[in-house]
Amino acid sequence: MVKSSKASYVCQSCGAVTMRWAGKCESCNEWNTIIEEAGDAAIPKGLSVVKGTRGQGRLEIQDLQTKSKPLPRQKTGMGELDRVTGGGLVPGAAILIGGDPGIGKSTLLLQAVCKMARQGKACLYVSGEEAVDQIRMRAERLGLSDTNISLAASSSIRDILSAIDNGVDMVVIDSIQTMFVDNIDSAPGTVTQVRTSALELIRATKKKNIILFLVGHVTKDGQIAGPRVLEHMVDTVLYFEGDRGHQFRILRAVKNRFGPTDEIGVFEMVEKGLDEVANPSALFLSQNQENIPGNSVFAGMEGTRPILVEVQGLAASTAYGTPRRSVVGWDSNRLAMILAVLEARCGLNFSGYDVFLNMAGGIRVSEPAADLAVAASLMSALTNKTLPANTILFGEIGLSGEVRAAPQTDLRLKEAEKLGFKTAIIPAGSKIKSDGNLKLEKIKHVQDLIALMGG
Ligand code: TYD
Ligand code: MG
Repeated sequence: MVKSSKASYVCQSCGAVTMRWAGKCESCNEWNTIIEEAGDAAIPKGLSVVKGTRGQGRLEIQDLQTKSKPLPRQKTGMGELDRVTGGGLVPGAAILIGGDPGIGKSTLLLQAVCKMARQGKACLYVSGEEAVDQIRMRAERLGLSDTNISLAASSSIRDILSAIDNGVDMVVIDSIQTMFVDNIDSAPGTVTQVRTSALELIRATKKKNIILFLVGHVTKDGQIAGPRVLEHMVDTVLYFEGDRGHQFRILRAVKNRFGPTDEIGVFEMVEKGLDEVANPSALFLSQNQENIPGNSVFAGMEGTRPILVEVQGLAASTAYGTPRRSVVGWDSNRLAMILAVLEARCGLNFSGYDVFLNMAGGIRVSEPAADLAVAASLMSALTNKTLPANTILFGEIGLSGEVRAAPQTDLRLKEAEKLGFKTAIIPAGSKIKSDGNLKLEKIKHVQDLIALMGG
């Protein structure tokens, strides 16, 4: 890259630097993401400018055999947050948390900070978006105003770094897009500023084993705004998601250097902030357990935790030429596949019907094991027959209509039994270790579902 001392053009999506403005970024193919940034963005000047640190020119080599101490984890005391981060926060970890505006990121972190402070940790909460009074008001609403934490409304990295020097255990930066390093000319929120600010913060906190939380804005399509590099720089990336219409919020790890990424944390937004939902299974079931055509209950897994989800299907005769297929909380391609399998292998005809599928409660299901419950819902919706009362289902469906086993059968069955279900329709090939009291209907093909449906 030719070094230019003048302006350069930086893609706000991928961080690529070009010498000339263009409507479309050549490297990530996004449109209208290239903007002019002053100074040399290819080699950010701020990297070692805020704190002038230069190496000694010697690389410290270590071996692999030496035992290192297991990472000491700090429990925040918020069980759901601890679960998602892999059993607590690791000192020195940098955690990026993204989510739609108003979903509750600031609330979650303020609660976490206060919990940590109550364990005697020194915590600093820096907001670049809200005034200190606003944060105080929020704390009051959350019933946390008697907690001893340090608040600041600032967006200057230089000031924050000097505050960190005074000894803290945990820092929250809300949000990284509002922060700026004063010796870079670009505006806050640009790639160069976001990247450099994050780098400076991560470097400073890692050196002192401080836990760093960065709040990140998301773009229209739900990605954390700014360069992808931000996600590479941090140890953990969490997404806080949920439907604004529902009070449930789900915290999901998409990257975690200190633990698994398949755990979710479930919260409920109430008047006094976020409540943890320790047993989310019953949450996504409707109160009304009566049998309605189109309804089925899927026994799913989220990480190590079973979650029962109500699947609702509806087939309504279509008014237009092309029938609609609409899905909430599931993959629309997968819905198309299940519909095709039902048509081709079971002789059901959906062509004259608009099909709607909804995972109740606002949860997003990504497991293929939900196939069987979806198929049952759609069949039931079309034929107006219902499944046996108090029944759960799970199993993956292949293109020939065969039903394949899903992992962790025992956990799913146990959870269903705990919640009062009587029957389970499961793949014939399921490996079951312990016998429960559930009546098991083992099926090999989706067609077998038809026989199980009553009037
Ligand atoms: P906030 O944490 O400000 O969201 P973010 O930082 O992700 O933008 O959450 C704001 C929303 O949460 C707001 O719409 C109101 C709601 N809320 C409650 O319902 N109860 C509460 O106790 C608080 C503090 C917020
Ligand atoms: Mg906020």
